[in-house]
Amino acid sequence: MVIAYAHTNIAVVKYWGKRPGPLNLPAVGSVSLTLREFGTETRVEADGALNADMFELNGKVQDGLPLKKVSTFLDLVRARSGDVRRARVVSRNDVPTAAGLASSASAFAALAVAGARAFGLHLSTAELSSLARQGSGSAARSVEGGFVRLHKGAREDGTDCFAEQVAAPDAWDVRLVVAHCAEGPKDVASTDGMNLTMKTSPFFAPWVETHEADIADAVAAIHARDLPRLGEVMEFNTLKMHASGMAARPGVLYWRGVSVEAMHAVKQLRQAGVGAWFTMDAGPHVKVLCATADAERVHQALSSVPGVLKVQVASPGPSARVLP
Ligand code: PMV
Repeated sequence: MVIAYAHTNIAVVKYWGKRPGPLNLPAVGSVSLTLREFGTETRVEADGALNADMFELNGKVQDGLPLKKVSTFLDLVRARSGDVRRARVVSRNDVPTAAGLASSASAFAALAVAGARAFGLHLSTAELSSLARQGSGSAARSVEGGFVRLHKGAREDGTDCFAEQVAAPDAWDVRLVVAHCAEGPKDVASTDGMNLTMKTSPFFAPWVETHEADIADAVAAIHARDLPRLGEVMEFNTLKMHASGMAARPGVLYWRGVSVEAMHAVKQLRQAGVGAWFTMDAGPHVKVLCATADAERVHQALSSVPGVLKVQVASPGPSARVLP
C-alpha cells in the first residue's frame, strides 16, 4: 500500500490545445506555479483478490466516469509494470473538484506517484511527469514544486514532453490569491473546451504561433525574479487563451460577471501602485499573482468585489511525494 500527496498548480502560461494521438500530448508548452495549500492525497493498494478497480473520493465510492478515468490510468501503470492486479484507490481532495481550480492536476499527479510505486515501478521525475500527463495535461507539472515548465516536445512518443523546475518553492517570495467566483463544477470540461477551440476557432492557430514567445518571456522573468514582467505576460497569455475559446463555435465562455469585476479590481490595484496580475483557467475563478508583502492588500480588494464567495492566499508548494 502506498500513499502519495501532490499539490495543484496554476499555469502562468497556459496549456490549451492537444496534438493528435493517444498520449495526450499538448499543442503548446506551459509554465506553472505549484501551490502548497491545495492538493490531493491518494492511497493505492494492488490486490490480487479484486476483479475490478475500486475508487473512493472524499469518502464516497465512485462509479461511472470517475472510476473509468482512474481505471484507464491504472491500465497504463499495469502495462508498464507487467503486474495485472486490480487496485483499491482512496483519494482526498483539498481543492474543489472540477471547478477550474486544477483538481485534476493534483489528482493525476498523486495517482501517478502512488500508482507507480504500488505496482513496483521506480520512475524518474520526468517519467512520472509523462505518466501523469496521460491522465491530465496540467498534472504533468504537479510532479515538480515551485515554478515549473512543461516542455511541449516534438517526438510522437512523448518522451521529450516532461516537466522541469524553473525555480524552487522557496526561491521567490510570491503569492497567488484565489478569488472563488462561483460554486459547483464548471460547465465545459477543459478537454472539451480545447477540442472545440482547436476545431472551430479562427484564433487557435495564432494562439499556437505566438505561444513560444510567452514561455520564453515567463521563464526569463522567473529567472530574473521580475514580477511585473511575469505578471504582464501572464495576463496577456490568459486573455489570449480565453479569446481563442470565446471565438469557437459555439463560444467557450468560462467567465461570470463577478470574474470580470475581479479582473477590473486587479487593474485598479495596479493603478494604485500595487503589483498584482490575474490569470483564469477553465472555470470562473480569478487567481492573482503578487509579492507576499502585497497579498493582504490583494485579499482585501478581491473580498470587496460583490459576488466573490471566498478569497484564499496560496504560496509556492513542493513537488509530489510518497508519504511515509
Ligand atoms: O489539465 P487539463 O486537461 O485539465 O487542462 C488544463 C487547462 C488549463 O487549466 C486551462 C490551462 C493549464 O495550463 O492549466
